[in-house]
Amino acid sequence: MPATVVVGSQWGDEGKGRVVDLLAADADLVVRYQGGNNAGHTVWIGEQKFAVHLIPTGILRGKLGLLGAGMVLDLETLIEEEAELSSRGIQVAGNIRISENAHLILQYHKLIEAEEEERRGKRAIGTTRRGIGPAYEDKAARRGIRMGDLRDGDTLADKLDAVVSYKNLLLKNVYKSPTVDPDRIYNDLRVMWDHFGEAVCDTSLIVRDALERGQKVLFEGAHGTMLDIDWGTYPYVTSSNPLAGEVSAGIGLSPKLIGRVVGTAKAYTTRVGAGPFPTEMEEEIAASMRDPGGEFGSTTGRARRIGWFDAMVVRKSARLNGMDSLAITHLDELGQFEEIPVCVGYRCDGEAVSEFPNQIEELARCEPVYEKVAGWRTDISEVTRFADLPEKAQGYVRRIEELVGAPVSHVLVGRQRGQDIVL
Ligand code: IMP
Repeated sequence: MPATVVVGSQWGDEGKGRVVDLLAADADLVVRYQGGNNAGHTVWIGEQKFAVHLIPTGILRGKLGLLGAGMVLDLETLIEEEAELSSRGIQVAGNIRISENAHLILQYHKLIEAEEEERRGKRAIGTTRRGIGPAYEDKAARRGIRMGDLRDGDTLADKLDAVVSYKNLLLKNVYKSPTVDPDRIYNDLRVMWDHFGEAVCDTSLIVRDALERGQKVLFEGAHGTMLDIDWGTYPYVTSSNPLAGEVSAGIGLSPKLIGRVVGTAKAYTTRVGAGPFPTEMEEEIAASMRDPGGEFGSTTGRARRIGWFDAMVVRKSARLNGMDSLAITHLDELGQFEEIPVCVGYRCDGEAVSEFPNQIEELARCEPVYEKVAGWRTDISEVTRFADLPEKAQGYVRRIEELVGAPVSHVLVGRQRGQDIVL
């Protein structure tokens, strides 16, 4: 299939970076379609850890990376990320293109988000505080500044004038906090244009041309289906649509051209931030998995909450994304257990529930129904063929496949390139 989407099926951090890195070896173009630097995609190359936040992971394979229209961009982060990668031998300049339609995250977005999270108190969402939500709010309110607005100084000054005076009213009168300096924002953005201007274009045309030439395009989803603003555990979600369907709007590509959808799921479940999490495990067990599994947010460093595999979650994701196959990651992390609980359904108010609820109030009343699957109690991190996995590990994967209703195409058993099984 020339166009493949890699999408997260849980609450993000499923190991999409690793899966994208694996598939990118065979791609010509890697494209992000939504989100911003709230994402963090980690790839290990030998002893070196790379965590990219805005630049598509394919850059680590030397592939052209596109930052699509559906993204929100903090250019300070982008320039830092570029410098960091370049200093470690990864060629970024000339290897990325940025959509002129992508919206920008500016200083006031981060200030307002911090104020809002404080104000929410115990209802705080636990955002990454990267200004993501406020930037998407401005996009929807039609007062956002887009990458293409930096092209012309007068246009930029005019648009900034209108929006900054409004933001300063809010900062001063509502939040009682210091205001921002429009001239500084303007000057900083002009410097950013000098740096990135050449890479800015209509990225949808690059994707179209690549597909017309028969090249392989990989769409790199960020976050996960349960963080989708429409289909996730609202309001404990991010402000964009990580769903595969967003490729169309976020890139500017006909949905008919989206070929294969590869869902990624951890062999268990994690989430960062607040919100209901039915299969969350006892902290004592979670603590035993956190260090070996590296279960700390790659963007904020926060300890991730850990739970058992929840088939209700991944089954819903399989349906919403139209998953052609599933990549199961971190299977090796379950090697310590004699028996592994897998959530096969929920009971809510004493009744069996067949679909993952859309309302968090209903979800909070749901009790997971577990089935215990035999553990394999051995190190599988060197296995490269499915048939060489212990039978019980094969059984665990096959059970997930059955419960989710999508065939497993990849099993990842370690953080290094090569520690993966292709089925
Ligand atoms: P925001 O995206 O910073 O607005 O955060 C909203 C929610 O999404 C919070 O619970 C974050 O922890 C979560 N979130 C956002 N991006 C990611 C991600 O890439 N992985 C995991 N959680 C994320």
